[in-house]
Amino acid sequence: MIITIDGPAASGKGTIARRVAGHYKLPHLDTGLLYRGVAVRLLDRGHALDDVKAAIAAAREFDIASLDAERLRERSIGEAASRVAVFPEVRAALLTLQKDFAHRPEGAVLDGRDTGTVIAPEADVKIFVTASAEMRAERRFRELTAKGEKMTLEAVLAAIRERDRRDSERAIAPLKAAPDAVLLDTTDLDIEAAFRAALSIVEVARAGRGRG
Ligand code: C5P
Repeated sequence: MIITIDGPAASGKGTIARRVAGHYKLPHLDTGLLYRGVAVRLLDRGHALDDVKAAIAAAREFDIASLDAERLRERSIGEAASRVAVFPEVRAALLTLQKDFAHRPEGAVLDGRDTGTVIAPEADVKIFVTASAEMRAERRFRELTAKGEKMTLEAVLAAIRERDRRDSERAIAPLKAAPDAVLLDTTDLDIEAAFRAALSIVEVARAGRGRG
């Protein structure tokens, strides 16, 4: 079974994907980490984030094992990732790795922006997770404050809106729900309720395919 979970930053898709993967004992790929990894490589080598040649080279030699997971999760790296993710050649260089992961014999859960539209359009279940920008900013703000980062809620909201704009307006593989994705709005749900809602979407899809 292939399950794709797409959605904007701080929608809850990553946590939902991890928990759904744990529930069905499926391998999970957070595809955002790939773009984050490319961005980190560029920064570490002193290249500008709009240096397309350097970005393509970093994507071609991509090796997730060599990257420091803690650092990849930093907020600034997420924003840098959305800048390298606009280059078609960078996306192309990361495509096979993601498609191969989706087609592991045991199945897979992938989360990101284009996993249901580009990486695995043939997925058995597609979920598109949304939440209002205000609620996503509030969640991110709480996370950052807990980590001791100093940022105002307004600045977090502005950064979220900017990332949404960049991810939705890019010409290639923009953030958008696949026509056959089920929408899951987590604005008024806590993580437990969101996970339960995702499970029931998967179960309904499985039953519909005769695997229930
Ligand atoms: O999901 P995460 O915040 O880790 O993603 C970082 C950035 O990587 C996103 O803002 C987006 O620009 C890019 N990305 C993408 N396609 C994906 C996953 C992430 O373009 N499938």
